[in-house]
Parts: sequence; C-alpha cells; structure tokens
Amino acid sequence: MKTQFSHPQHLVSAALAGLYGFLPSGMPLFGSLAQQYRSGATLPSPAAAISPETLMTKDALAEIAAGNIPDLGKLCLDLHAAIDRPGSSGSALQFVPVLDAMATLKPGAIKRLLDHPKRKHVLVDNKLFKAVLIRWEPGQFSGIHGHPKGGCVFKVLKGKLQEKRYGAGIPHQLLSTGEFFGGSIAYIDDSLAYHAVGNPYEAPAISLHVYTYGKG
Ligand SMILES: [Fe+2]
Repeated sequence: MKTQFSHPQHLVSAALAGLYGFLPSGMPLFGSLAQQYRSGATLPSPAAAISPETLMTKDALAEIAAGNIPDLGKLCLDLHAAIDRPGSSGSALQFVPVLDAMATLKPGAIKRLLDHPKRKHVLVDNKLFKAVLIRWEPGQFSGIHGHPKGGCVFKVLKGKLQEKRYGAGIPHQLLSTGEFFGGSIAYIDDSLAYHAVGNPYEAPAISLHVYTYGKG
C-alpha cells in the first residue's frame, strides 16, 4: 500500500532520520488533542508480558470480542513495540512502518464500523501512545489543534479525508489544504503546523490515528 506524506518537510525529515531518529521540536500547547487524550492510564509493569489483553482498552477488547470492530490486537502490539524500545525517539514517525504494513480492512469490518453507533474507538491509551479508530461522517471536521512533542500519524482506512494546515499564530492562518485517499499516511507535529482534519466529501471515511507524548 502506498504511503503518502502530507508535507515535503516531513519527507526530508523522515529520510534523514530513517524514520527512527527524528525528534521534532515542541511548541506551546494550544487546543491539543494529544493533551486532551492524556488519561493517566498506566502501562503494564515491565515484567508483565505485553498482550492485546494488557495493552488495549477494555472497551476495545469488548467490541472486538463482540465482533463490532476489527481485531487490531497484533497491530497494537506492533505499534507498542515501535515506540517501547531502546533508542526510541518518542516520535510518532516510528509508527509509520507499522501503519504502512497494516492490512486493508475487510468489507465486513468496514461495514460494521460504518454502522456502529460510536464514531470513535480508543484502542490503546497509555503513557506512551494513544491509538484511535475514527469514523468521519460527511461534513464532520475536527477543530484546529496541535500535536506537540511526539506528534501524530494517521492512516486513511476507508474513503477520503481532507487536512487543512495552519500556522501557530492567533488567529491561525491557513497554510495548505491536502486530500488523503485510502491507504494514505500523514504525519504532523507542532514544528510543521497545526491542523484540522475532516470529511467534506459525500461518503463516510474511517481513519486510524496514533499519537505520542514524546520523550519525558
Ligand atoms: Fe490531529
């Protein structure tokens, strides 16, 4: 599946860092989803074996057991391994290879997500990262927000999303507008821009977002 990055600076950064050494500089927090997403949830102790049961949220495990959302346990383990390792930069860029290798969701799984009464499913929420499956109904947009420290990657799993990038100054100045098709992966942190993501199109879309809190 083709990886599409949304910013030339990102391509340069990723190439220089080999996707592993890049630590974006932080900027003051403003309307940060990452900040909102901090839950204080704790990781399993280092001695405990990591499994989907210890890594994923209770809600996600219940939804998977009921067959309402796809079983992304292996993917979550891979995301965890990508950031919980010696030499980790804390950057969400480290998730890109995992998302790039992610299998396409089957039509039945897509339909169940589209039909599900809940629009967001938090798969993992710990001190290292948060992974969220999101359905975007036509006309639905996030507010303008930043991703400080480790930044965020998202992958479009179904449909098409639009991302608007903004400067950090108030009022935010529109810098660019990008379209992301199924299979596309985008990265952002506050050193690049703030952004708003949404679906101005006629069909619903589904994406997976993975956020980190950087190092320390
Ligand atoms: Fe975001």
